[in-house]
Amino acid sequence: MVADLADRGYGAIGVWFLRALLLIPFVLMAPEVGSAILGRPGAVANISASVADVLGTSTFLIFVLMLTVTPLRTITGWRWHLILRRDYGIAMFATAALDITLAATTTGDTFPGTPLTRVGGHSFLVAGTLSTLLLVPLVITANRPAQQWLGRHWKSVQRLTYAVWAMILVHLFLLFGLTSIFLDALAVSAPLALMRVPPVRRWWDSARRADRHRALRAVAAAVMLTVFASGFVPLARELAERGAAAFVQQPVRD
Ligand code: HEM
Repeated sequence: MVADLADRGYGAIGVWFLRALLLIPFVLMAPEVGSAILGRPGAVANISASVADVLGTSTFLIFVLMLTVTPLRTITGWRWHLILRRDYGIAMFATAALDITLAATTTGDTFPGTPLTRVGGHSFLVAGTLSTLLLVPLVITANRPAQQWLGRHWKSVQRLTYAVWAMILVHLFLLFGLTSIFLDALAVSAPLALMRVPPVRRWWDSARRADRHRALRAVAAAVMLTVFASGFVPLARELAERGAAAFVQQPVRD
């Protein structure tokens, strides 16, 4: 019933709202990038201070939302949002591509050397760069002609998503150890990974279709939502704070 309503009417509004959110990282970085293009003093240093905080966090949040599409379908049966999986994948790549481009060109104050040193001079930079490069085959094949051409191999290429996921966690572990943002990333990842375990997914799908174990499913969904939110909310707050500071061109320097 809820799935029907969502699929029929509200879906289109929801999809466009959720697509509009993808502009946020670009809007937040626009004033600093505009100032740098105009050659204003201090603009490059501002980008250097903002880029990883604003675009790294945005890329991760977009990735997380993309990974939420399939579990949401398993849990609710909704279909209206499935289109977002591809949109979010492409937007994640666009955000990560801007991140690595700005990192290579503006972070010389933090990572002196060549552009290559700025994207590969430390193990945590290598992990961030690899996370971004692994997105290239995913985004190139995120269309119907590529899917037809690759046939049954298409799914194997899409499994690179798991390598990206692991590499981002390595990037964050190398940066933060067992604290703060790494723990937030683990909290959002745990329910998304659990719902991908084939027996869990199959059990949930068949219980939902047969309308069985309603109470158990409701409790499990509430627990997973709580764990997910415990990681997602601090990350979104981080983006709001760092993003607002970047937008007014007074980035947080740490
Ligand atoms: C898929 C790609 C990537 C994701 C999802 C990602 C994610 C993140 C996140 C969530 C943070 C924490 C931000 C904060 O402290 O507010 C971060 C920090 C950082 N990232 Fe990435 N990142 C990616 C790619 C890159 C690349 C390509 C580079 C540079 C070559 C990079 C360099 C950094 C650096 C230096 C920090 C530390 C910033 C600081 O604490 O001041 N990242 N990244």
